[in-house]
Amino acid sequence: MPFTYAKIRRPRRAYIHVPELIPYYSPLRYPGGKSWLAPELREWLARDSRAELVELFAGGAYASLLAVLEGYVHRAILVEIDPAICALWRTVFSADARKLCSRIRGFRFTEESVEELLDKKFRTDVGLAFQTIVKNRARRGGILADGAGILRTGERNKGVSSRWYPQTLIDRIKRLNEYANNFKVIEEDALEYLTLLHRRRHPVKLFVDPPYTKLSEPGVKPLYRFNYINHAKLFGKLHQTSHDILITYDDSDFVRKKATQHEFNIKRILMRTAHSVKKHELLLTRR
Ligand SMILES: C[S@@+](CC[C@H](N)C(=O)[O-])C[C@H]1O[C@@H](n2cnc3c(N)ncnc32)[C@H](O)[C@@H]1O
Repeated sequence: MPFTYAKIRRPRRAYIHVPELIPYYSPLRYPGGKSWLAPELREWLARDSRAELVELFAGGAYASLLAVLEGYVHRAILVEIDPAICALWRTVFSADARKLCSRIRGFRFTEESVEELLDKKFRTDVGLAFQTIVKNRARRGGILADGAGILRTGERNKGVSSRWYPQTLIDRIKRLNEYANNFKVIEEDALEYLTLLHRRRHPVKLFVDPPYTKLSEPGVKPLYRFNYINHAKLFGKLHQTSHDILITYDDSDFVRKKATQHEFNIKRILMRTAHSVKKHELLLTRR
């Protein structure tokens, strides 16, 4: 679908749902993914041209995919700690993408075959990548945390395969693979990587989308395999960076306090979750 963002007038800086402005580039439907942020991401990326985007806590990597595929940056670096997610991105951006596509094409998506596949331990990137895609499609909201069950009745009672669109997945993977040289995947703790980034001379765009602070609270169901980070330490490190930065966070007193303390601008933005629930998130930029 052609991209018509510039032609649409927006009366207020609020979330509006215009599907053609939010293209889906990813084979993952990622919990906490940032597709809804597309208009703000474009505005931020267009503000000055830098050759490289670094996306910390990359997950479904929406910002990186948009930035490269829409030509805002030449290269995107995805920093993520989860080995299964990294295996997926490494495969998508390598010659093994073809093997991944043929596994997707040949898979019969039934409750039994999904359970059998999810019980397996894979050693190769391509095996782990395939398992990650199937897990992401079989579970409610794409949750990848250990122990989350598969959605037997499917979404809208359409059965376990209600989210399995093999041809769409293959088309997205093939398209992304054409940009393989424009992506780099770093499997590392984002806080460690930030220390390295501070030393880099040439400036990058830095997009930071950490797990929500409330995922650290007792009783809150985890969304990812890695949910807990030291948010206070992260704020301290982000404060030191000289790169052009955009941070997204859940709207909480803790985040507001830390953002003010570390001299970030705070903007509250309305979004709609995958289940059409409206809620607010915070966008933080350098003051
Ligand atoms: C909110 S999600 C990112 C969603 C992403 N922006 C998107 O568009 O799909 C947070 C991600 O941080 C990852 N993560 C958690 N702890 C991490 C750490 N210490 N270093 C790097 N990544 C981490 C999780 O595995 C998860 O994928």
